[in-house]
Amino acid sequence: MDDRHIVAVIDFGSQYTQLIVRRVRELGYSAKLYALEDLDHIVEPGAIILSGGPKSTSDADAPDLDYTWLTSFNVPILGVCYGMQLLNIKHGGTVKPSNKREYGPADLCPCACEGLYKDVSPTSQVWMSHSDTVDHISEDCRIIARNQSGIPVSLQWGETCFGIQFHPEVTHSHEGNTILRNFLATAKNLQKFDIGDFKNQMVREIKERVGDKQVVCGVSGGVDSTVLAVLLHEAQVNVRAIFVDNGLLRKNEADEVRANFKRMGVEIETVDASERFLNALAGVPEPEKKRKIIGELFIDVFWDAVGDAEILAQGTLYPDVIESASNAKSKASTIKTHHNRVGRILELQSQGKVLEPLAELFKDEVRALGASLGIEHDILWRHPFPGPGLAVRCPGAVSKDRLDIIRDCDAIFIGKLKEHGWYDKIWQAYAGLIPVKTVGVKGDERSYEFATNLRAIVSEDAMTADWVELPYSLLREISNKILNEVKGINRVLYDISTKPPASIEWE
Ligand code: XMP
Repeated sequence: MDDRHIVAVIDFGSQYTQLIVRRVRELGYSAKLYALEDLDHIVEPGAIILSGGPKSTSDADAPDLDYTWLTSFNVPILGVCYGMQLLNIKHGGTVKPSNKREYGPADLCPCACEGLYKDVSPTSQVWMSHSDTVDHISEDCRIIARNQSGIPVSLQWGETCFGIQFHPEVTHSHEGNTILRNFLATAKNLQKFDIGDFKNQMVREIKERVGDKQVVCGVSGGVDSTVLAVLLHEAQVNVRAIFVDNGLLRKNEADEVRANFKRMGVEIETVDASERFLNALAGVPEPEKKRKIIGELFIDVFWDAVGDAEILAQGTLYPDVIESASNAKSKASTIKTHHNRVGRILELQSQGKVLEPLAELFKDEVRALGASLGIEHDILWRHPFPGPGLAVRCPGAVSKDRLDIIRDCDAIFIGKLKEHGWYDKIWQAYAGLIPVKTVGVKGDERSYEFATNLRAIVSEDAMTADWVELPYSLLREISNKILNEVKGINRVLYDISTKPPASIEWE
């Protein structure tokens, strides 16, 4: 991408920073996140946003930047939370550090409904997460909004330099998008974000980068890898798409994935490793051990199939990149090292052999890109499916018989959700196995069979989840069908546990 006239978001380590980029794109403009170490990559920005961060400006190791450099671009600047306090200090104001963090909703009361607060209500809920507050302000500073207790929560210097104490990027800030839009309106010639243009540009860049080398990519049938493979196909490069069947897939899934790709004109190579996986998992009940076996075996099987790749393409998305970057630079409190950034892949990366065309996009943008590539709705809106597949829905040791029971229950459950228009309203749904035999009656005989647990949740990011209030009549229909048709099940349970404390998967 040509980075001129984009909105440069500078990362001070807030957990919400990547959301700022997303909101700017939703508002129609190109934006990119920059780590403090990469500020020299910022060239001719159209506007600059300084993010929030976990530190107090008074901390000895508080992140900082060169104010002369910042203002040298002569473009609008918005400081969010930590960013605002930093701007306040740079302008000669002072900040009151506090050892207690204010966290949660607050009322925003703009001093006037104009400028940054044009079309914003006189009282509007915003989300706070900060420890510093404004103490003194410089002479050239105006207070443009306060909270419900009269404390300044928004400042302005000159025409186009603003500070806001709250986080406009989170949905709990009800009019956050309006405030961001007002800020962007103060910038000139901002680069527009259009997914169709983005696609054409990516196709050009892929062609240029790859030339006549061979590109290998893994496909799982999931959204990211499918969009990646179709994009490479669109770029008409020499691509091998490898699909590993680990024997832990849902009913008919391998056939469906093959059929989907065939319809899209993309050839895929299937490696049927199901027996290897099931043998390796036989008699292993510990969840983490199961995950480890599956993860390691996948790597072996996949790299065997890849051979000597000239270029490896990965469907890494923007949040994955940021998550790994934050890990590496240890600024944001981080979660994990992303699996696209480990071992052999890092080695290939250091040789310039890794291609990640989706690395600037968020999930919903990948879906939009997929749609512009002609990928069907059902593929783009497939529920997430865990890498270890049905193994994490089969507590205890995995066997083909148990997996087949899960497959049958799951196919009925998902089929009914689709038939009744519920599938697209649900974030993730599945049937799992409860490997406890309970008594029942089938025909005239007692039965001792397993139970199945149905789980249907809504979530934004899988960190929290709520169960879906499916109608009783639908639950009854699903339960009847499972009890009538699935051998080995005599009990159907609906999981009404929120996350936390429960997780989405059972293992
Ligand atoms: P939990 O069960 O942690 O799941 O609430 C959150 C989301 O992550 C998926 N999940 C996994 N995905 N490897 C994956 O690729 C895993 O080991 C794994 N465990 C859970 C889960 O399906 C849900 O979408």
